[in-house]
Amino acid sequence: MKKLYRFTALILTAVILLLAGLPMLTAYGTEAKPQKKLVVGMSADFPPYEFHKVINGKDTIVGFDVEIAKEIAKDLGAEMVPEDMSFDSLLPALQSGRVDLVLSGMTPTDERRKSIDFSDVYYRSKQVIMVRPEDKDKYPTMAALKGEKLGAQKGSIQEEIAQKVPNASVTSLDKISDLVLQLRTNRINAVVIEDTVAKGYTLDGTVTLAKAVPEDEGAETAVGIRKGNTELLASVNKTLARLKADGSIEKFSTEASALSADRQISSNSIVDIFWKYRSLYATGIGYTLLLSALGVLFGFVIGLIISLLRMSGIRIIEWLGTTYVEVLRGTPMLVQLMIIHYGVALTLGVNFTPLQSGIITLSLNSSAYLAEIFRAGIQAVDRGQMEAARSLGMGRGKAMRHVILPQAFKSILPAIGNEFITIIKESSIISTIGMVDIMYQAQVIKNITYEGLSPFLIAAAIYFVMTFSLSKLLGLWERKLRASDHR
Ligand code: ARG
Repeated sequence: MKKLYRFTALILTAVILLLAGLPMLTAYGTEAKPQKKLVVGMSADFPPYEFHKVINGKDTIVGFDVEIAKEIAKDLGAEMVPEDMSFDSLLPALQSGRVDLVLSGMTPTDERRKSIDFSDVYYRSKQVIMVRPEDKDKYPTMAALKGEKLGAQKGSIQEEIAQKVPNASVTSLDKISDLVLQLRTNRINAVVIEDTVAKGYTLDGTVTLAKAVPEDEGAETAVGIRKGNTELLASVNKTLARLKADGSIEKFSTEASALSADRQISSNSIVDIFWKYRSLYATGIGYTLLLSALGVLFGFVIGLIISLLRMSGIRIIEWLGTTYVEVLRGTPMLVQLMIIHYGVALTLGVNFTPLQSGIITLSLNSSAYLAEIFRAGIQAVDRGQMEAARSLGMGRGKAMRHVILPQAFKSILPAIGNEFITIIKESSIISTIGMVDIMYQAQVIKNITYEGLSPFLIAAAIYFVMTFSLSKLLGLWERKLRASDHR
């Protein structure tokens, strides 16, 4: 029995290490560590400012904000690293130091100036109303939009414009591509958007512009900088002045518009999409496996400790263990993730990477469930076992390790397997903070192809294959363990 227990532990460790190690190697193995980094926050759903495009088989963030950011970084002697996030998390990200600059077609409003500084203005555009082609003439004026279902990007000035329309119901979403999907599927009837950006979305004729135009002044665009960072501000303004003077900004914006116009509008079959973006899905699978494997591994260790604490017989420690389990099980994982990723950064100044935040959240969350599983398993072992072990002269700890835990482990294996499967699925939540897992890649592909269904069907198939083979594998292993009973 003891041998079998050791063997099981060995296999488990080997599998986890293997799963964890593979994507690590492919992800970091080839990259050389560069000098200084300038992390630039952007919401890459805003062609031609910033958007996703597959270049040489690799998902890349391109656009004229990206080109400007590169110039700024060049003048600072740093490497530009774009970070894609939702538009309304850009300000907190800048304030907490997660990003150094924001270039995201952002308008310097008085409200925003309260929390961050802005560079000189580098671009101007106007607001327009985007509708389905059949509604082209339905809204000749803004007044015609009264009481209508409108959409706008969350946290943008377009959201404010939409909210000012009398009686309108406004849907605010993180990504503009999602708004376009909502428009095309009749959930909303008009989107407030900037003319430069609308151009990219109206190209294929699935949506078009209405005659109505918001009377709010045009939108200016500037670089967002953390308050009090005057040195960086001066340097950014100097770069912008240079780019304006030599016509680069104009050139960048024409080039970026051409790049976004050149996207494929042919209808993609699901097989085409899968084949074309297989490398993105492959990266996603690597990170999903890494996240879940490490989540379960650390969750396992923490959970075991917590369950032992809960059976320690010391009142206060038991109470602490119970509170831990109840709190973690009683709050949504998405909320826990936000607290760990953003909350900790804002209050304690500890900036975890998305991978770190993801692993911490998954470990803590699964440890609570695993602790319960362990407790049930340990308590299910016949009390006589402990008594017998003690009467043979073993101490409590020794009896636990050699007699109780091996038996408990065997009976809870299916439950642990289930937890692993749950974690694989739940790990998709980590995509909300920019972890490049399967779910994130599906969203990226949706943003590139404007296909709302196929990228997610593919993701579903991948998740299913992963969980199904895991459950088959666990079933096999369980049968092996059970066979030892009859020896
Ligand atoms: N200019 C508008 C604003 O500042 C919208 C910007 C949206 N940017 C983006 N990358 N999605 O609110």
